[in-house]
Amino acid sequence: MITVRFHKADGTLDREVGGRPGQRLLDVAWAAGQPLEGACEGVMACSTCHVIVDKRDFAKLPPASDEEEDLLDLAAHATRNSRLACQIVLSEELDSLSVRIPPSAKNWLYG
Ligand code: FES
Repeated sequence: MITVRFHKADGTLDREVGGRPGQRLLDVAWAAGQPLEGACEGVMACSTCHVIVDKRDFAKLPPASDEEEDLLDLAAHATRNSRLACQIVLSEELDSLSVRIPPSAKNWLYG
């Protein structure tokens, strides 16, 4: 199991959950009830799966593609450590991955 920590926009820890290698972070977030819409379900046609990755973990991720960078340019509250959750695939190296949900994320599950 790979531990993933989801933090609220204010930085406080919301959920700590387990994921499997090969699982997309977006799917882990959905299973954990996180307010990430992921409107295009991972085909990189939106930026509603935007997350802000902990600096230490960000360095472990493969670089974003040009398409992902273009979408992140459109994302509200994007930072230098922003990534799209649908493009992050869990691996053992990412154990204890910490991400923050940006302030503009709408909680579409719970209003
Ligand atoms: Fe649309 Fe990730 S779900 S870009």
